[in-house]
Amino acid sequence: MKSPICDMLGIDFPLVAFSHCRDVVVAVSRAGGFGVFGAARHSPETIHQELQWIDDHVDGKPYGLDVLIPENMATAGEKNVTWKSLESRVSQRHRDFTRDLLEKHGVKLTTADVAQDQPQPFDKERALAVLEAAFRHPIRLIANALGVPPTEMIDMGKQHGVPVAALVGAREHAVRQVTAGVDILVVQGTEAGGHCGEVSTMVVVPEVLKAIKGIRDVPVLAAGGIMTGRQMAACMAMGAAGVWTGSVWLATAEAETTEIFRDKMIEASSRDTVRSRGRTGKPARQLRSAWTEAWDRSPDSPGALPMPLQTLVSRDAFDAIDRAAAAGNPRARELVSYFVGQGVGLVDSVKSAGAVVQEFKEDFADAVEHMNALLAE
Ligand SMILES: Cc1cc2nc3c(=O)[nH]c(=O)nc-3n(C[C@H](O)[C@H](O)[C@H](O)COP(=O)(O)O)c2cc1C
Repeated sequence: MKSPICDMLGIDFPLVAFSHCRDVVVAVSRAGGFGVFGAARHSPETIHQELQWIDDHVDGKPYGLDVLIPENMATAGEKNVTWKSLESRVSQRHRDFTRDLLEKHGVKLTTADVAQDQPQPFDKERALAVLEAAFRHPIRLIANALGVPPTEMIDMGKQHGVPVAALVGAREHAVRQVTAGVDILVVQGTEAGGHCGEVSTMVVVPEVLKAIKGIRDVPVLAAGGIMTGRQMAACMAMGAAGVWTGSVWLATAEAETTEIFRDKMIEASSRDTVRSRGRTGKPARQLRSAWTEAWDRSPDSPGALPMPLQTLVSRDAFDAIDRAAAAGNPRARELVSYFVGQGVGLVDSVKSAGAVVQEFKEDFADAVEHMNALLAE
């Protein structure tokens, strides 16, 4: 297919798959899409191991890497912030609320032991070190979410001849990113799983295309709610050069998701997700559960802490919730949640990631044929 994205990324079909799971990345790239590995939780050491595994299994097919360097965080401007140093900033009220909520569901909250020098969640210096380490591998794209990538990241991309992508959810953000020098815009609607804005994919994609037209020719990948090749064709009909997807891969056999979450995805309708601060402190779309209901709607909720503090609260809690749910506690199952978009309503079974890529291709071709037939009639 002729698309600037295909030329930039070395692929034939501009379907990009974001995943925290290396098996999904490999399966998608091998099937002719482009897998992007989410490195937000990794250190320079662990990323090297993961990417080595990808290199050993991907048959030389291209893939990329995604980091999360927020432009705005409660700790912005502070140096050497560690996980431990942040612990004292989580109030007793927040701790009690979390412990009581889990107890109501028969889950005992345990705290994982964190190394003294473990950096804060979403630490910029660590993300840049991860990128440095990743360039020892043949990555073909680097991407950042939650703001303009730092200059160091844009420079690294230039130095290695690798395009730099950025996720945006609003027209103003897109204009800032293009001005800052990013090579690819991932324009994400509010339907999307994970951190998202308030405007739908159907509106924000043409809005951004129109706004950046006079500035610089930057290809746009549409994102948010895209679960099928027909939707991909619709986005490309609007002017996107391809699509960037996340939720659809959570319901694949290779994904990191738990069996219980996959079952919940199959049961869920598109109205069962919520844009909540309850997991990370910034609005992120996730499956509605007793956890999001408690943080967002309960009268005694202390309200979510700002990023990165809410992650200190939620990470241990979800480890405990997932363990208890897996052990068969039905009340713990009520709390189970994860980032997922409104497209969850289209999930009806678990398939292999390669089969999903194949379906996208067939579905895309059907959509194009359908449109051509409309013109011929
Ligand atoms: C489980 C999950 C985790 C995500 N984590 C990240 C992340 O760490 N970095 C990032 O750039 N985007 C992240 N996203 C957003 C995806 O990159 C993508 O933009 C989004 O999933 C697209 O919308 P969709 O879920 O409707 O396909 C995440 C999405 C999901 C579903």
